[in-house]
Amino acid sequence: MPKVGIRTLAMSRLRNHYRKHLLSLKTMLSNGNSDDGSRFFDAYPLFYSTSINAPRNRLNKRYRAIIEANDAIIRGKSVLDIASHDGRWSFAAHKAGARYVLGIEAREYLVQNARQNLREYQVPEQQVQFVRGDVFEELDRLDPGTFDTIFCLGFFYHTMHHMLLLNKIARLRPVLWVGFFSTRKRELDTRLPVLSRLLLHCPCG
Ligand SMILES: C[S@@+](CC[C@H](N)C(=O)[O-])C[C@H]1O[C@@H](n2cnc3c(N)ncnc32)[C@H](O)[C@@H]1O
Repeated sequence: MPKVGIRTLAMSRLRNHYRKHLLSLKTMLSNGNSDDGSRFFDAYPLFYSTSINAPRNRLNKRYRAIIEANDAIIRGKSVLDIASHDGRWSFAAHKAGARYVLGIEAREYLVQNARQNLREYQVPEQQVQFVRGDVFEELDRLDPGTFDTIFCLGFFYHTMHHMLLLNKIARLRPVLWVGFFSTRKRELDTRLPVLSRLLLHCPCG
């Protein structure tokens, strides 16, 4: 093969190599910017209005990371939703097939919103319940082994008593507990591994 042929071949291989990487970079970037996955909450828009901090994209992205990616630990399971807010994740867990969900929320108006939202969407009251109270007190009232999965979403930064909270969660001996480590977009796009043991924080939206 003439020399120029080798050079051309090498150049073309290099170009292909970089084109491939450029393409995956482009795909990565566009995945990060687009929101073309499941838009669960669009079908349940009440949740956009019962919290001032619930931008649609964000809530749907959280849905994908929290619920969609964790089907195995939600379907058929009993779920405890710590700091249940307007009932969004209790509701989403129910829709994802949870057997029973209990939400704990400190603020009365949010408990009312949650109950109202779930009534509107015809969720049987005995399948998803809410108690108004301080998580630190309410957790002590629950029997160990009652819940398979515990959501602790967007709550860690609401308390200074992290170890106490973790101990109280541990006392309940859930099979798994789930949470967010960060509110940054990159993490939101990352699916939570089913075996993740520690879930920390995420804001209301
Ligand atoms: C940032 S929001 C998170 C809501 C929801 N878990 C989510 O991730 O979208 C925090 C929630 O924790 C509730 N909260 C704060 N301190 C609490 C406590 N000691 N006991 C129960 N709920 C509490 C607030 O009222 C609020 O609804």
